[in-house]
Amino acid sequence: MCGIVGYIGPREAIEYLITGLRRLEYRGYDSSGVALLTSERHLTIRKSAGRIDRLEAILGGIPAASVGIGHTRWATHGAPSDINAHPHLGGDGEVAVVHNGVIENFQSLKRRLESDGYKFCSATDTEVIAHLVASCLKLQPPVEDMAAVQYRPLVAVVQAALSQLQGTYGLTVIFRDWPEVLIVARLGSPIVLGVGDGENFIASDASPLAGYTDKIVYLADHEMAVLTADSMRVYHRDAGHVDLQIHTLELKAGDMDMGSYDHYMLKEIFEQPESIENAMRGRLDFDAATAKFGGLNLTPQQLRSMRRIVMTACGTSWHAGMVGEYVFESLARMPVEVEYASELRYKNPPLDDHTLIFALTQSGETADTLAALREMKRKGHPVLGICNVVGSTIAQESDGGVYLRAGPEIGVASTKAFSSQCTVLAMLALYFGRLRHLSFSAGARIIHQLQELPDKVRQALQCSDKVKEVAAKYAHCNNFLYLGRQFNFPTALEGALKLKEISYIHAEGYPAAEMKHGPIALVDKHTPSVFLMPHGQTYDKVMSNVEEIKARGGPVIAIVCEGDREVGRLADDMIEIPAVEEFLQPIITVIPLQLLAYYIAVARGCDIDKPRNLAKSVTVE
Ligand code: F6R
Repeated sequence: MCGIVGYIGPREAIEYLITGLRRLEYRGYDSSGVALLTSERHLTIRKSAGRIDRLEAILGGIPAASVGIGHTRWATHGAPSDINAHPHLGGDGEVAVVHNGVIENFQSLKRRLESDGYKFCSATDTEVIAHLVASCLKLQPPVEDMAAVQYRPLVAVVQAALSQLQGTYGLTVIFRDWPEVLIVARLGSPIVLGVGDGENFIASDASPLAGYTDKIVYLADHEMAVLTADSMRVYHRDAGHVDLQIHTLELKAGDMDMGSYDHYMLKEIFEQPESIENAMRGRLDFDAATAKFGGLNLTPQQLRSMRRIVMTACGTSWHAGMVGEYVFESLARMPVEVEYASELRYKNPPLDDHTLIFALTQSGETADTLAALREMKRKGHPVLGICNVVGSTIAQESDGGVYLRAGPEIGVASTKAFSSQCTVLAMLALYFGRLRHLSFSAGARIIHQLQELPDKVRQALQCSDKVKEVAAKYAHCNNFLYLGRQFNFPTALEGALKLKEISYIHAEGYPAAEMKHGPIALVDKHTPSVFLMPHGQTYDKVMSNVEEIKARGGPVIAIVCEGDREVGRLADDMIEIPAVEEFLQPIITVIPLQLLAYYIAVARGCDIDKPRNLAKSVTVE
């Protein structure tokens, strides 16, 4: 939540700040702002409620500046407004701060600062940080040549302020009187630094840095960095100065282009054949009829000794975890539980020593998933991270893991990450199965089915025009049911979530047979039921559920295997997809559901890539 950027160097800071904020807009987009510092010690702030276009519109006439910070907000404390937008000034304007995170004790700090005479303009928790830094600055004895002492007194000032905070932050501070330095700090909210040639960059994730530098440094919790145009020093709260660990950024600026698509979401839906191929590249071991992974960091013996798996995640990643439960139970014959990370972190489940945790996440920054991971590690369980974003906090803190390699997912509604997670989980289930009972020939058959998957997804995407027609017919409806069984129950949940998120239509996902225990009361001629009914062991049973809905006058949209003529006599609309093995069906059945949500949202004029109230990366509890 919230994106922050910072620049110091010879170029016009505003150019990087705006590019960076646009790339981070997925993290929050209710308001944005910048603070620019000229060498004449003049601090200019521009900020505005609304999208970055609104900010750009008010940038006219700002002075040239080569130092600046910027922020795009997802409101936590205080409504989205010009006043609550960041940056926030501290003291009499000696410092400006941008912040991502939540300060839990801000009310008590605010009361104290107010009684000390500090004036607050906003309802945010961040303004407390700005005034705190300013108040600590006052206590700092004058230093004649800050550069000569490597700005250590300023580090001490910021550290003194941070030590009073309870909560999380990724933040950057600029000082009116030291325009040649930026200070950045992290506890719980991500910060990536870009090392340039005579210039340095700050961002909440690596995406803003693509095209500017390929040398990046991940700041760790309790670390602070001091940036000038030609130096970067990192300090740890307890360990003092730490050596820079420079990583190479693989991301290219072009990877984030929308190409000829109208929206990122549509582009990402159509990228799925390639993202699934990437997830499998080099990971199928034909000789041993199994899957192989480079970074599990646990020996086959250790993995074999695991008796139970707990998958933890949020939202769409949680749905992928549920698919994983069915797939692991069927291929690896291992008991699996799927826990919402927000529940697991406060639960005390009786897990034995042979329990392995999977943390599933696209962003690798979701606060609840990270907290659950830490809690499970604290209890001594090994955690494997299944992440998309390379170098993200969850990727770093997991004991081992598997990257999705899906490429940047920018649309707020997750699509290709889901299918890649399901693919990686299927490969992991194959691997765990082969460590146990699964025979060579069964393993070889599964590998063959996995190999065919990208082409099957390509074929499934051909339903797009049909889905568009169906979407036009039902776009006016205000309630939808999504029904599926077994492997397709989690997909029903995912289809309902997609529709809710981007078209603001109420939708419920249910196990098809469970529907008659309550939700069937919702059925009327205005409430379509989307049935997931590819061929499989429960096909006939689901068919009976279709009959039950039709008998009550509800419209039925059926997602069926190509050539299925049976459902046609009952369903109002049919969308055909290619047949695959049951354990791979969620990866195929989700395609028409993603497209249905997309086209309905387009028909209703919704903001597809930036739906209201949401942000892509939920880094607050
Ligand atoms: C839904 C969606 C969210 C995320 C959830 C977890 O389309 O995007 O439900 O799936 O916030 O995010 P990650 O996977 O980044 O942990």
